[in-house]
Amino acid sequence: MIVDWQLRAVAPPSHGTRKRGYLVDTMVAFAAAAALTFLYVTVLGWATKETLVPWTFAPLPVGAILPSGWILGEMQIMANGLAGHQHDFYIYVNDSRWLYPQGTGGIDYSTVNEALPYWFNGLVPLAYLLDDTRLKNQVHSVATTVLVLQTDDGWIGPEVLEERNFWGRVPFFLGLTQLAEANSTWEKPVVGALRRFMHLTNQMLRNHGQGHLICPADVVCSWGQTRVHDLIITIQWMLEKHPSAQDALLWDNMDLFYEQSLFKWVDWYQPGVYLEVVSNPSLKHPDYPYLHGVNVGQGLKAAAVVRRFKHNESLVDASMRAVNWTFLYHGAPSGTILGDEIQRDLAPYMGSELCTAVETGYSLAYMYLALGTNYYADRAELVIYNAMPVMMTDDMWAHQYMDQPNGPWATNNTQDFTHPHGPFLFTTAHSGAATTFGLEPQYPCCTVNHPQGYPKFVTHSWGRAGNNGLAHTLLGPSKVSTELAEIKCDTAYPFDHTLKYTVTSSQGVDLFVRVPSWHDPKTSTIGIGGSSFALKPDPATGMHKISVPPGLATITYTIGASIRSEPRANNTVAVYFGNLLYALDVGLSVKSSFPHPFNNAGGSGINNLPYPQARDYYINNTKAWNVAIDPSTLAYKGIGDSSSLPTPVFEYGAPPNFMTVRGCEIAWGLHLGATPDLVPEDRTCLGEVSTYKLIPYGSAKVHMSELPIVRLS
Ligand SMILES: *[C@@H]1O[C@H](CO)[C@@H](O)[C@H](O)[C@H]1NC(C)=O
Ligand SMILES: *[C@@H]1O[C@H](CO)[C@@H](O)[C@H](O)[C@H]1NC(C)=O
Ligand SMILES: *[C@@H]1O[C@H](CO)[C@@H](O)[C@H](O)[C@H]1NC(C)=O
Ligand SMILES: *[C@@H]1O[C@H](CO)[C@@H](O)[C@H](O)[C@H]1NC(C)=O
Ligand SMILES: *[C@@H]1O[C@H](CO)[C@@H](O)[C@H](O)[C@H]1NC(C)=O
Ligand SMILES: *[C@@H]1O[C@H](CO)[C@@H](O)[C@H](O)[C@H]1NC(C)=O
Repeated sequence: MIVDWQLRAVAPPSHGTRKRGYLVDTMVAFAAAAALTFLYVTVLGWATKETLVPWTFAPLPVGAILPSGWILGEMQIMANGLAGHQHDFYIYVNDSRWLYPQGTGGIDYSTVNEALPYWFNGLVPLAYLLDDTRLKNQVHSVATTVLVLQTDDGWIGPEVLEERNFWGRVPFFLGLTQLAEANSTWEKPVVGALRRFMHLTNQMLRNHGQGHLICPADVVCSWGQTRVHDLIITIQWMLEKHPSAQDALLWDNMDLFYEQSLFKWVDWYQPGVYLEVVSNPSLKHPDYPYLHGVNVGQGLKAAAVVRRFKHNESLVDASMRAVNWTFLYHGAPSGTILGDEIQRDLAPYMGSELCTAVETGYSLAYMYLALGTNYYADRAELVIYNAMPVMMTDDMWAHQYMDQPNGPWATNNTQDFTHPHGPFLFTTAHSGAATTFGLEPQYPCCTVNHPQGYPKFVTHSWGRAGNNGLAHTLLGPSKVSTELAEIKCDTAYPFDHTLKYTVTSSQGVDLFVRVPSWHDPKTSTIGIGGSSFALKPDPATGMHKISVPPGLATITYTIGASIRSEPRANNTVAVYFGNLLYALDVGLSVKSSFPHPFNNAGGSGINNLPYPQARDYYINNTKAWNVAIDPSTLAYKGIGDSSSLPTPVFEYGAPPNFMTVRGCEIAWGLHLGATPDLVPEDRTCLGEVSTYKLIPYGSAKVHMSELPIVRLS
């Protein structure tokens, strides 16, 4: 989110510089708004017994679903890596403005003050899903500090009056609501603080949209508006889980937030408005808020969130249009969104932020629970099982800011500042370090925002189906525990396609297992007590229902998977097996250095961090990258013994699965002298035809994933 460069290091205005007229206006407006609110709540409240559109699969509280198997291993590495140590040393977390009384100290990387909130949003579920005392103490300490600092008028966060804007609160509130679900001790303080905040919110919105339409900078407001549905999620949580006399005011806040937003995603995904190709990419583009990759990832779920309170069924189609067009015109094979700061086209050198991957995963998971369209769940798995892990080192102490579908090296381009558009990532040329792995390459937002990736995926991986059902919405190893049943799913999915369920229930339970749309019906089966049954997935949700009798039952679900070559632009393919993308193995040669501050990637680095594990990594390929393949020669080698997945599973060379394919090197130039250009039309083999290896994308830290097709007889 490079926009913040313009805002960074703006000192908080002191109380003495506050504009007087503004204050008087505000006070008058507050009084008027308070009277209005009173009228609304006491009189109109009786008439508005409104309800939210129910979920297709209602989410379970944080803690009801726990990770197991390989994904537990990945989350433990995360806890031992950068995610789990930011509170100890990362200045935007341990010295955040949020931890000081308003305007008195602390730092942030931009005036939207989102660093600590991002961290909190990911660390709450990480701490609770791992039952990690050290991390729980960190989130409790931060929650206590922030809630104690809530101002008398209800504001939560470090901003003095005229600095106030809503966006930075959004991830913090998502963290708070998860904390209240995970630990009932936190319910009262969290809900109480949110109520006071929502009361103030109503006054601010009724005061000309203060903090939403009127912000310290327009760009701050546009960010809040494009992301407002993520704030509405918290309001809906309050309505759903903690109904009270404040409900009418909460409905009013939802309406005000939405109606006041100048950027509404349903308006963007319209024929003639939506930009399939952005021919004049620039940070000054009038549609910049709609084009920024992270906003797009977050915005996918906007229509689904709005539908819950607007009861407008056209938003179901609007949701599909958003997802469909986004991936058709700006999608990467790994399931993320190509938006190198902003969307342009499908060029395979285009970058995508790590933040985009985790936000896209969360949006799609939310959408499946809300709307039940199978496609969203397939895509949620795709992005979390491919686009996210490829951007993390195996120890998860370092991450990329930008990944490219065709990125056979990840080196520092600081030396190449001569091109007017920068080295190759047009708008993110700021430091040239966008594709290196490190502490905060290019910008700190993904350092603090990446930890939500796996935890949010796990908390959305089961949902309630009807009164007596539990649905496995996102496949992978996990355990779920509710008053209906305890269910354990042992599996190496997506590395393997057999899922073993152990179900314990006293009354019997309906178990729904999701059948991915890419499954092969002929080889997919459900095995119960020695018998095998064909799958009958619901055409919309993809769910196959199994009525499990009381007591202990075991069920084996086998998903038939096969090699899939999906066509990409200009006679290229992306190759999948199940939900894993496979990339050309280009080898890996790694050098590392002290980590660099994001705004000085060319310097000597930070040499005094208390954690020597925090380093920056530069990677070269060691094998040819300019390879065309003949997809008719693809062969898959599975993992065999599914119990033996290595940890970390996404280390280069770790996953046992691979493919082989026949191909040859072709002439292929560089874009701006820095990165592989568009895939060339000429597929003449330069040398011998030989056999190449494709490996799971998440483990191919440098890679080629959009491969030119050549027909070899
Ligand atoms: C935050 O961590 C850094 C080490 O990276 C340390 O120097 C600093 O004192 C810490 N700040 C606070 C407020 O604890
Ligand atoms: C719940 O939160 C309270 C207050 O922070 C803490 O003392 C307690 O240990 C937490 N419970 C669990 C199970 O983590
Ligand atoms: C439903 O939403 C669509 C898309 O925003 C809008 O055009 C339509 O007017 C809405 N219908 C109602 C009844 O509000
Ligand atoms: C996706 O959009 C394309 C182009 O508008 C359209 O042809 C296709 O039918 C859409 N698919 C779905 C599932 O909506
Ligand atoms: C496909 O090739 C055309 C012609 O060279 C080029 O303009 C276009 O950008 C290419 N598209 C992609 C996604 O590579
Ligand atoms: C990558 O190759 C370049 C050019 O040969 C070299 O300068 C650099 O040190 C190499 N880096 C690694 C990590 O091998």
